[in-house]
Amino acid sequence: MRYYAIEGPARLVGSVPISGAKNSVLKLMAAALMVPGEVTLHNVPRITDVVLMSEVLTRLGARVRFEGHSMTIAADGDLHDETPYDLVTKMRASIEVLGPLLARLGRARVALPGGDAIGSRPIDLHLRGLERMGAKIGAEHGYVEAIADRLHGTDIVLEFPSVGATDNLLMAAVTARGTTRIDNAAREPEVQDLAAMLCACGARIEGAGTTTITVEGVDELHPAEHTVLPDRIEAGTFAIGAAATRGDVELIGVRPEHLRLPLEKLEQAGADVTEGTSSVRVTMSGRPRAMDLAVLPYPGFPTDLQPMMMVLLSCAQGASILTENVFESRWLFVDELNRMGSQVRVEGHHAVIRGVERLTGAPVRAPDIRAGAALVLGGLVAHGRTEVHAIEHIERGYEDLPGKLRGLGARITLERA
Ligand code: UD1
Repeated sequence: MRYYAIEGPARLVGSVPISGAKNSVLKLMAAALMVPGEVTLHNVPRITDVVLMSEVLTRLGARVRFEGHSMTIAADGDLHDETPYDLVTKMRASIEVLGPLLARLGRARVALPGGDAIGSRPIDLHLRGLERMGAKIGAEHGYVEAIADRLHGTDIVLEFPSVGATDNLLMAAVTARGTTRIDNAAREPEVQDLAAMLCACGARIEGAGTTTITVEGVDELHPAEHTVLPDRIEAGTFAIGAAATRGDVELIGVRPEHLRLPLEKLEQAGADVTEGTSSVRVTMSGRPRAMDLAVLPYPGFPTDLQPMMMVLLSCAQGASILTENVFESRWLFVDELNRMGSQVRVEGHHAVIRGVERLTGAPVRAPDIRAGAALVLGGLVAHGRTEVHAIEHIERGYEDLPGKLRGLGARITLERA
């Protein structure tokens, strides 16, 4: 059993390189299935979700080469149409192969996803959209089956700006006959990144990054290279870590415009933020100020940074209310955090956080990727020794988190029990 041991408190100081975005690269890899030829991706993070997605693609018949931070995916031979249960349950994002397989093969069979324990995560919006594009959808024995000779363009209004549904429908629309319009689309930068890669492969997409995306179907895509955009959630994790530990950290290789609201919130908490063209410096002295914060789809405050903000606000002067509007039960780590001395009470969508002077180290378990990273931040802030267990969740989405934190002066080691 591997775990992280952290000796706190730490003060994070120095500069840290930010990796490519997990939530982008997984979709880019799925999209490569649509290209009859080689797609090369650069700035690919070395995280276990990428390894899992490589396995998904390999089982589907693609050849994947991953060297350093570059990956080549060749989906030029015969592809299979079935994505097996054992892989999909390990990573919800594997549902993103549904649109590409359907577009390329005219059929797809994908196990219904599992994934993080952060609330019920249905895929009804993905399926309803595909149906509107002409797919026949059935669900049996834990699998979704979709069939369509050739999808056709249509108007789709998403009930909620789901990131996954927007991505899946966008990919399916790229080679559909005619024009597809997706309204109330997710505006996340990762959706824009996916559209940029698809356009490099010959797709015709307009409006990615806005609420209305228009896709003009093309007959076939061609090989291309693409560089994955920086991970704004990893960057946000270090930025919040800098503020929570009253440190001074420069994030290298980021897109500050993708972090607008998180950085504004850190300023509200008392941090100084300096933006460069591809860097951000966050410094903080003194105790954070309490504040209210609501999580919303992009450009709102990201749900994936909510757990880290809870750690910051746990040590703030005063009481804060944090409202989660994207996932209904993303509070599984609150009991763990409270074991470190925080005073958080959850009621429905709201968490009331009474700031305490100090957290104390404790053994805790990571319930998912982001809550795991938040518990690591908790360990840095807390006095004494913290052990964070179930770190395989953290490794799904963070490239060498302990190494990067050690580079900023933290005392964190990987241990084996
Ligand atoms: C993606 C991110 C995840 C992030 C989330 C929200 C990836 C791999 N993961 O997840 O890190 O936390 O966006 O920013 O990119 N919903 C439905 N029906 C659907 C689809 C979604 O009701 O068909 C609901 C979900 O239950 C949830 C909300 O919509 O309450 C948001 O989900 P969605 O935006 O789809 O998140 P994911 O794409 O799964």
